[in-house]
Amino acid sequence: MPIKELSVRIRREVRDGKFQVATTIIFCLSIAFLVLVLGMIINDHFKKFVLYEDLHFSSLNAFPPLFSSSLSPCMQQCNSSNTAYGLKEWISPKDRWHSMTDEELMWRASMVPGIVQYPFNRTPKVAFMFLTRGRLPLAPLWDMFFRGHEGLFSIYLHTLPEFTYEPSKSSVFYKRRIPSKLVQWGRSTMIDAERRLLANALLDFSNERFVLLSETCIPLFNFSIIYNYLINSNQSFLSTFDDPRPIGRGRYNKRMWPTITLSDWRKGSQWFEANRELALAIVSDIKYYPLFRNHCMPPCYMDEHYLPTVVTKFWPNLTSNRTITWTDWSRGGSHPAMFMRNDVTGGFLDRMRNGFNCTYNGERSTICFLFARKFHPNTLQPLLRVAPKLLGFDP
Ligand SMILES: *[C@@H]1O[C@H](CO)[C@@H](O)[C@H](O)[C@H]1NC(C)=O
Ligand SMILES: *[C@@H]1O[C@H](CO)[C@@H](O)[C@H](O)[C@H]1NC(C)=O
Ligand SMILES: *[C@@H]1O[C@H](CO)[C@@H](O)[C@H](O)[C@H]1NC(C)=O
Ligand SMILES: *[C@@H]1O[C@H](CO)[C@@H](O)[C@H](O)[C@H]1NC(C)=O
Ligand SMILES: *[C@@H]1O[C@H](CO)[C@@H](O)[C@H](O)[C@H]1NC(C)=O
Ligand SMILES: *[C@@H]1O[C@H](CO)[C@@H](O)[C@H](O)[C@H]1NC(C)=O
Repeated sequence: MPIKELSVRIRREVRDGKFQVATTIIFCLSIAFLVLVLGMIINDHFKKFVLYEDLHFSSLNAFPPLFSSSLSPCMQQCNSSNTAYGLKEWISPKDRWHSMTDEELMWRASMVPGIVQYPFNRTPKVAFMFLTRGRLPLAPLWDMFFRGHEGLFSIYLHTLPEFTYEPSKSSVFYKRRIPSKLVQWGRSTMIDAERRLLANALLDFSNERFVLLSETCIPLFNFSIIYNYLINSNQSFLSTFDDPRPIGRGRYNKRMWPTITLSDWRKGSQWFEANRELALAIVSDIKYYPLFRNHCMPPCYMDEHYLPTVVTKFWPNLTSNRTITWTDWSRGGSHPAMFMRNDVTGGFLDRMRNGFNCTYNGERSTICFLFARKFHPNTLQPLLRVAPKLLGFDP
């Protein structure tokens, strides 16, 4: 009896339950249908969302406002020079200005490709790195020098940090300043500036030779001669010599021993020229640089000893041991002669151009200096007068 009763109750409950489930399903379906109809009324494109295939089979133009924001225009035409990140920005940054710290910059500049072959047409360039305080007084002469040789050179300016003047757009010096810091004569901040210039120039993978110049420097030949002389040289031009006098060996600090010994100690001109290999070595040096910064302070002038000593000790084959920037020390003192308006004559410039003997790629050469210093701003007019004829610039 109780079993019969129980089975009847169960059957009834199941029937009621089924009924409840059916009611719920019908209710939900009608709600969904209502929503569907409402949606279709609100937006007659709604159907196209529900039908998934529409995304693939209808033309993209059917939904112009909906898709232009989520799909890049690159989908239709990809071009490494505009929208997408390409090689161009990596091998040759468009702007000189950037937000990297010195530490970040040196690290980035020290990168060397593991694949030797370049995947682009590389025309080697000469990087002209100007270490100046402010405006370049002889800029018109340099403008004349560079004109017509675009693609074969790069220019970098390290100035006082507060100097913000920008020359006209037509000048080769327009937007060529790099992020700069204060420089003190004879101190490590001078080397920091040189390394900063080298590092910025190394970011352009086409730069092959790196020349350091000052605001009082002038070129002694036309661009083609200087370009070929540097590009074809198998060594850099960084002067180094052993000076036994107090102003040479006398500046050696025993605390550098044994890393740097007295017999390693060298002196040389600050105004160097480096090939890419040497430039990379200089920005990558984190071992010897701090040693000099801590133990070579005035009257030890770091710019006269750090590179000559380190390069002679570790990369002696990379330099010819001579500088290509002519300077007149014959008048004595701790600064070289400064030339004035009346000094600039054809004969005077010719002596610097051809009055010496030196070795170039293992052969004797009379072209030993490509640049000269120091020229006072008042030499600009006489220089502009003699330059076209003497230096063979295009007038
Ligand atoms: C890439 O874009 C640049 C600049 O917009 C244009 O000059 C060049 O012709 C484009 N190249 C290709 C292959 O589309
Ligand atoms: C560097 O010079 C030394 C001798 O001065 C020579 O033995 C060596 O082969 C040279 N190295 C290179 C890479 O030219
Ligand atoms: C430069 O000087 C170093 C050491 O004084 C020497 O080993 C090297 O051969 C010199 N290089 C040239 C090209 O004379
Ligand atoms: C350079 O060498 C040539 C030939 O040996 C010689 O006549 C000339 O006087 C030398 N010049 C200098 C400045 O030493
Ligand atoms: C540079 O080239 C000259 C001439 O070919 C050669 O005698 C000399 O050894 C080379 N120097 C280096 C460092 O390769
Ligand atoms: C550079 O000077 C040399 C020698 O004076 C000359 O042969 C050459 O044509 C000049 N180049 C230019 C571009 O003026």
